[in-house]
Amino acid sequence: MVVGSGAREHALARALRRSPSVAKVVVTPGNAGTFAEAAPQLAPIERRPLTGGVTVESVVEAARVVAPDLVVIGPEAPLVAGVVDALQKEGFLTFGPTAKAAQLEGSKAFLKELLARENIPTAPFVIVHNFEDACVHIRKRGAPIVVKASGLCAGKGVVVASTEEEAIEAARLMLVDRVFGDAGATVVIEDHISGEEASVLAVCDGERFFVLPPARDHKRVGDFDTGPNTGGMGAFAPSTRLSADLISRVEREIIVPTLRGMKNNGAPFRGVLFAGLMITRDNDVYLLEHNVRFGDPECEAIMELLDGDVAELLASAAMGSIDRRAVRIATDRAALALIVAAQGYPAAPKSGDEIRGLVDAGRLENVAILHAGTAEKNGKVVTNGGRVLAITAHGATLEEARRRAYEAVKLVSFDGMFYRNDIAAS
Ligand code: GLY
Repeated sequence: MVVGSGAREHALARALRRSPSVAKVVVTPGNAGTFAEAAPQLAPIERRPLTGGVTVESVVEAARVVAPDLVVIGPEAPLVAGVVDALQKEGFLTFGPTAKAAQLEGSKAFLKELLARENIPTAPFVIVHNFEDACVHIRKRGAPIVVKASGLCAGKGVVVASTEEEAIEAARLMLVDRVFGDAGATVVIEDHISGEEASVLAVCDGERFFVLPPARDHKRVGDFDTGPNTGGMGAFAPSTRLSADLISRVEREIIVPTLRGMKNNGAPFRGVLFAGLMITRDNDVYLLEHNVRFGDPECEAIMELLDGDVAELLASAAMGSIDRRAVRIATDRAALALIVAAQGYPAAPKSGDEIRGLVDAGRLENVAILHAGTAEKNGKVVTNGGRVLAITAHGATLEEARRRAYEAVKLVSFDGMFYRNDIAAS
């Protein structure tokens, strides 16, 4: 049973149904894509709507009915709210961290303190609880500087400020106006590090881990990295920026000490540890943040590169004894996920528009039209969120994957749709 309604969960459902150990996949609450999936030769995907959204209670209720052998949680909010603890208490094998371990993403202050204790490379920082302290630090360090609400803010709590005034305004909104509620009651202010971003995801069983192909996300809404940050407008894997040597350093300097620190904290980390990295021009690697789940759209590209039994990999990790031979990372192909967004995303996306061309686009070779914000209405598929589709393609080279995804997007249309033209272009 896969929990969530994005393209990430659609990609996970498809990877799980390809797993020889899987007889059936249920996605809850899913979207119009998970509803429409059909491929008679593979395990079926069923969809189970959730009443009242994805809450700990609604997910536990769904699991009681579905009785799955394995639950895989997609988004961070239910993880931080303790859905894994609740499911485990009821006896369901669940892939994902407990609420205590999910603090790595749920509290940036918790994360930064762990990084400092374990000597994990990260930007110098302070943790503040009031506006005056924030101003003193911002004036002392100068701009550019990064202001982060400590708690979960649905991807909106990080401001990369290019002036001191901008940083002070961000701190005011978080600490005085409380635009993020309690999530902004504690603020992390850190030095800005420039370089190239990379996402390294590892499936962890508490002590051991399996590193997935490194990915690159494109977070800004517009071409050439312009406009506001989003959840991600496109991703590709493997990222060409990370050599085998750099990946070994990430394992040694970031993943191993994080797992050690969490174990020593009494919260061994089981689930996906998603290291958001900045690689500088001098090849120094810094951890910007840890997420405790698959990245979206990184997951869509990464799943295209895994052969074998993804279900077995996740189930064995959830049991605390990871089977690293369950999957093989393909070396003969690259993959790319291109997000198609609705007008107004990320601030105020428009919904309810009919999406055309899905069937034709999905027929292209090595292309999968993964759904995110979509719904089914009167037999039609309509937009129902900011990120609407993740057009995912693979090919012998990244250029081939890219060409296929951009060919497919031209066949899809809905009122106000847009996408970036430069995913994997540089
Ligand atoms: N694509 C970035 C994230 O999932 O947080």
